[in-house]
Amino acid sequence: MSKESNSIWNSLMDLPANVVRSIFRNPLPSSDRGRAATSFTNFFLHVQPVRVSRQALRPSYTMGLGLISFFLFLILTGTGVLLMFYYVPSTTQAYDRMLDLRSSVEFGVILRNMHRWAAHAMVATVFLHMCRVFFTGSYKPPREFNWLIGVALFLLTLFSSFTGYLLPWDQLAFWAITVGTNIAGYAPVIGPKLRYLMLGGNVVGQEALTRFYALHVIVLPALAALGISIHLFRVRKDGGLSRPDEPQDQVENIALGNLPTNKSYGLMELARGTTPQVGKNPEDEVFTWPHLVFREILLFLLVTAVVLFLAIFWNAPLEEFANPIHPPNPAKAPWYFLGLQELVSYSAFWGGVVVPGLLVAALLVLPYVDRKRDGIGRWFARERAVANTIFSFCLIAAIVFTIVGTYFRGPNWGWVQPWSQAPVATEGH
Ligand code: HEM
Repeated sequence: MSKESNSIWNSLMDLPANVVRSIFRNPLPSSDRGRAATSFTNFFLHVQPVRVSRQALRPSYTMGLGLISFFLFLILTGTGVLLMFYYVPSTTQAYDRMLDLRSSVEFGVILRNMHRWAAHAMVATVFLHMCRVFFTGSYKPPREFNWLIGVALFLLTLFSSFTGYLLPWDQLAFWAITVGTNIAGYAPVIGPKLRYLMLGGNVVGQEALTRFYALHVIVLPALAALGISIHLFRVRKDGGLSRPDEPQDQVENIALGNLPTNKSYGLMELARGTTPQVGKNPEDEVFTWPHLVFREILLFLLVTAVVLFLAIFWNAPLEEFANPIHPPNPAKAPWYFLGLQELVSYSAFWGGVVVPGLLVAALLVLPYVDRKRDGIGRWFARERAVANTIFSFCLIAAIVFTIVGTYFRGPNWGWVQPWSQAPVATEGH
């Protein structure tokens, strides 16, 4: 064999190793320095801190709810893009495309089911994540702004799910959106205009479908992606997750606009073998690689598996083709708005405008009003008994109204027993 062909042969033999080395420049780290370097050199890892507190890793603290919400968002983006290859946002074609997905598109039904169940799950996990942040007092300084971004993300999640609801153009979609946008229409002065703006007219029709589609596939996901990026960036810049022993001077430093010293300088201090800047209790921190990264990968696989499992065994609903002259009785909004619909049945103005308006306003001002640093980083801390009680009361009320709206309301919004589905007889009937 000539020298030249010999070297080509050697290059071919080394090809796999060279390709891998060109992607992952460092071997799997075996020292602390290597573990820290992994976070600097890998695109996906360098957005995370080099080290995280043990408390942040404890499933009993975060329950992984923020990450689960993030992973559901990724699954929704992936399945949503694939669904866009088939879907046509037209009142004459959308429903047929849904039927096609069921019958003739390979894996179409699984794709649609995954998208639907992940959307419902995300509404639930984002809400639960907000509750965990509240009950651990994690919205207090220096995390006030991140709480605000969180509130915006919660509203974006609800609105994303709501706009997606219309797209199948079946009876469920048509009437849920009709009821949902009617609730928005109850707002004084701007209500009817807002409703008109959303629908592009006075009724749910092609204009509404076009608007909901544009909002659902581009505007809201883009805003959510931007919001989530800022949210995760801020978690890091606010000194990582909240914890009870958070050093006071670190909090003050962040409030003054100085970055937490225990993050960026970790490697330098580590290389010198001393850790004076690495927080007050360096032994309570571990390296992101592998401790956090492995947990993240596992959680992602678990979330994907659960969504896939649901999608395989339960089909997303698809009712009859939308019929504007034949409303179901009762016509119900999506489940996450059924508490609101129940309130609206008592008073459109109070239930549809005042109560939700006050609740959102209260969430927005909360971290600027409740600033005392007592009880941060612990679930249901005694020092926060008043705040926790008020929040629990609102939470229970929201759950009760949603359950009533979902299961105990039948034709003409009258009472029904969910186990018999027969309207409850009332006096005089
Ligand atoms: C799309 C929705 C959301 C995503 C993807 C998301 C993601 C995350 C992640 C991954 C974390 C760190 C880990 C964890 O706490 O589980 C986090 C923390 C945080 N989130 Fe969210 N979040 C979302 C919505 C919200 C909402 C609705 C709120 C509150 C209104 C909120 C407020 C916060 C705060 C204050 C922290 C810091 C908590 C601490 O330091 O202990 N987030 N979020």
